[in-house]
Amino acid sequence: MRQLKPNVYAVGAIDWDARLFDRLIPLPDGTSYNSYLVRGTEKTVLIDTVDPAKTNVLLGNIISAGVDKLDYIVAHHAEQDHSGSLPEVLLLYPDAKVVTNPKCKEMLIDLLGIEDEKFITVEDGQEVSLGDKTLKFVYTPWVHWPETMSTYLPQEKILFSCDFFGAHLATSSLFVDDEAAVYESAKRYYAEIMMPFRRQINANLAKLDDLEIEMIAPSHGPVYDKPELIVGAYKDWASDNVKNEVVVAYVSMHGNTSKMVSHFVEALIERGVKVRQFELSTVDIGRLAMALVDAATIVIGSPTVLIGPHPCAAYAAFLANALRPKIKLASIIGSYGWGGKTVEQLAAMIPNIKAEILDPVLAKGEPKEADYAALDRLADEISTKHKEKGITD
Ligand code: FEO
Repeated sequence: MRQLKPNVYAVGAIDWDARLFDRLIPLPDGTSYNSYLVRGTEKTVLIDTVDPAKTNVLLGNIISAGVDKLDYIVAHHAEQDHSGSLPEVLLLYPDAKVVTNPKCKEMLIDLLGIEDEKFITVEDGQEVSLGDKTLKFVYTPWVHWPETMSTYLPQEKILFSCDFFGAHLATSSLFVDDEAAVYESAKRYYAEIMMPFRRQINANLAKLDDLEIEMIAPSHGPVYDKPELIVGAYKDWASDNVKNEVVVAYVSMHGNTSKMVSHFVEALIERGVKVRQFELSTVDIGRLAMALVDAATIVIGSPTVLIGPHPCAAYAAFLANALRPKIKLASIIGSYGWGGKTVEQLAAMIPNIKAEILDPVLAKGEPKEADYAALDRLADEISTKHKEKGITD
C-alpha cells in the first residue's frame, strides 16, 4: 500500500510477468491493475478492483490498511481486469455498495452475476460525500467501452481515470519518474486500445478542461503527478495532425516483395519522407499500432498466396482497419506468380480507413525496371501529396 495524498492510497497489484493481454496485445513491460482506497471522515471507498489473478494482492493490501468497513466500491469499467475481483471484495465486505452508472451495472450483472441490490447508480456529474471528501462522477464513455467513467476528488484535485490515460507498464514507482518510458508505454496503450475512439476521446478531453487536475491516477501504470505530460500527449495523438511518415508493413516469401520494399523505402528516404518499416511475420503488433498513431500514409507489401494476400498482410490490414488510424493515403505493393486478387482483397479489408488509395504496384515475379520505376512514381506521389497537404514534420 502506497500513499498518493493524505488518506488516498494505491492498493492494486503490479503484474511484472504479464506478456499478453486478451491473448492478443503484447505486454513487453508487464502491466499493473491499479485500485485506490480513499478514506473520508465518514465513509471509505475502494476505487476499482484488480484482475482476478491478483485478487489476493488486493485483499491483502486492503486488510493491511486496516479497513474494517468498506462503504462503497466504485466500478468505472466492467472489463474484468478492473472488475474481476469485485465478487471476492463483496464477500469480504458484504455491506459495501457498488457505485457505478446504469450501463456499467448492467454489464457487471451480465459478466459477474453481481446481485441487483448491491448497486447504487450515479448520473454524470453526480456527487457522493465521504464526509470531508467528495466523489464527483464524470462520464467518459468509449475509453474504451461504452460504460466507462472517471471519478474526480475535488479536495485533492485527483482524477481517477481508469483505462483513460493508462499505460501497460509494471514499475515499482508510484508516480511517473521516467517520462520517456511512460510516454512510450502510454502511446502503445493509446494505439492498441484508445485509437479507434479518437472522436470520443476528444470530447472527453474537452470535458476535463472544466476540472482543476493536479494528479491523474489511471488503472494501469504509474500515477501522473504532472498531468500535463499525458493530457498533452493525448491531445496530440487524438488530433487530426499527422506526420510526414510512411508505415511500410510487409511480408515476403521468396524475396521479390522484399526487393520492392527495399527500393521503395530508399526512394521515400531520398525524397525526405520518414519511414517506419515492419516485417509482418515477426512484428510486435504494438509497435506497428504505435506507428499508425502519427503516420500520414500506410503501404502494405504482400506476395500473392492462393490468389489473395499473404495471411500476415491480411492480419495487418484487418488490424489497421480496426484501429482506425488517421492516415491520409494508402497503397499496396507486392509480387505475384500468375494472377490473383491481392489488391482487391486487401483494399476491401480497410473500409474504416478514410484514406485516398493510391495506385498499387504489382510485379509479376521478380521486379523489373518498369516495376522499380512505378515504385519511384509512388514515392513521388506520396512525397508530393504530403507537401500539398502541409504535412512536413
Ligand atoms: Fe484495463 Fe478496459 O480494461
